[in-house]
Amino acid sequence: LRIGVPSKGRLAELAAELLKDAGLHFRRQDRSLFARCKELPIDITFLRTEDIPVLCAEGAIDMGITGSDLISEAGVDVRRRLDLGVGQCKLSICVPDDSTISAPKQLHGKRVATSFPNNTANYLKQHGALAHLVNLSGSVEVMIALGVADAIVDLVETGSTLAANRLRILTDIGHYETVLIQNHDQRMTETADRVVRR
Ligand code: PRP
Repeated sequence: LRIGVPSKGRLAELAAELLKDAGLHFRRQDRSLFARCKELPIDITFLRTEDIPVLCAEGAIDMGITGSDLISEAGVDVRRRLDLGVGQCKLSICVPDDSTISAPKQLHGKRVATSFPNNTANYLKQHGALAHLVNLSGSVEVMIALGVADAIVDLVETGSTLAANRLRILTDIGHYETVLIQNHDQRMTETADRVVRR
């Protein structure tokens, strides 16, 4: 059974800890992309967190640990086996503290910076706003100060990044957390179920 886990960042450490708690012990050698578990017929593959949903849907990995925000953004069909109770966050539309914008439909014709263009476009469309999306991979909160956006759509956990950038939440468009997913083919069901139970 091949399980994809994030190769770096906070979620990488968390995933390794969770798997260890589940009795799956493996050692990653240097920057190797694979590691074999000692106890069960399981290979761990180290991937970019944002690629895990699509790689699971395509069957490159049987299971994966990733954020449900990334599954939603990728728009792929995978089986959500377990919510892992960590990484809770929300995706929010944010505007400057002193902005006069009070409803999403007022973003019509405005510039919105985000790393979640699909979720953002869907939400704005549902609310009758056609906005110009500025598609970025990070540091979205500074884009209003840089003058390239009127609003942003980004993940909010504690709200401290927003406060530091003098932004406020206009509305929340989704709630997410870290999850264990599985490909619909369900290869090696017994081993997969065992991972879930543990
Ligand atoms: C996320 C997100 C925000 C921040 C929100 O970034 O993109 O910038 O956390 O958290 P807060 O509400 O607790 O301040 P992360 O640190 O994961 O890095 P990233 O920008 O590379 O995604």
